Amino acid sequence: MTTHSISAPGKVILSGEHAVVYGYPALVSAVNMRLTLSLKAKSSKKTTKPILKMPTAEYISAYLKQNYAVNIHSDIPRGSGLGSSAAYAVSLATAYLSLRGKPTKKHINDLAFQLEKSHHGNPSGVDNTACTYGGYLWFRKEHQQIHLMHQLPITKKIQCFLLQSGQPKETTKDMIAYVAEQRKMNPEKYKKIFDKIESITKTWLAYMFDEVSRHTLLEAVRENHRLLSALGVVSPKASALFAEIEKIGGSAKITGAGGKSDGSGMLLIFHDDKEKLTKFAQKKKLKMYPVQLGERG
Ligand code: MEV
Repeated sequence: MTTHSISAPGKVILSGEHAVVYGYPALVSAVNMRLTLSLKAKSSKKTTKPILKMPTAEYISAYLKQNYAVNIHSDIPRGSGLGSSAAYAVSLATAYLSLRGKPTKKHINDLAFQLEKSHHGNPSGVDNTACTYGGYLWFRKEHQQIHLMHQLPITKKIQCFLLQSGQPKETTKDMIAYVAEQRKMNPEKYKKIFDKIESITKTWLAYMFDEVSRHTLLEAVRENHRLLSALGVVSPKASALFAEIEKIGGSAKITGAGGKSDGSGMLLIFHDDKEKLTKFAQKKKLKMYPVQLGERG
């Protein structure tokens, strides 16, 4: 019996997390960690459920399980800011829409966004878009119904690393809600932070097009970290790690929603000396992953 496999990559937000929820741009990249959903048709098909236009993740999962032996394999660490839930939503959406023919990426992305919304409350849509299209993406939510996305025509190799600062106690939904609450209490402060984050996101874009130096980029990454800390999405435990990483010559930031009371998920690190960073991670007994950006969707 044939097995169908569907896979989607994880993602890292290079710049713009949280700000992107409020209509600011984000630059995001797919990474070479993937989630794979395998479906093996059951011999006795029991398609009793109708195919809905806007199903929930639970509905799709139950539908698929009725007709297929479903197996999920993922090498995207969960709850760490790398888009594991978005990669799952994209894979589920692809499997479901493929029951009626070959879906376009837009259809897949639209359904994956619905699934993400029921999971995360008020996501921007950047995660599912990155996991659907892959590569490097410039993303901006203009309106609930209008998401602008531009795939950068770039194959630049950027060496970076991910270091596990600890799984956050808070979910992405919690962190989005936390920032929303804080912003409501102090809109001026949050506007200033988001404006500065936007200018960092633009520095990233300039770097991608070889218009600014790596030194300028790395300074911007450090500033990004300080701004994310000011948003309250970096925990004291992760902050201590950042200070040490900067001391040994690295630049780092959280990637994704972050976390405030324990870990803050994966830290995205840039460092020219891989050996030095590896030794640091070993000394701290922390998991480190070299990561390749610009993975296909
Ligand atoms: C999560 O990966 C990124 C956030 O900006 C939330 C979102 O954009 O949906 C924190």
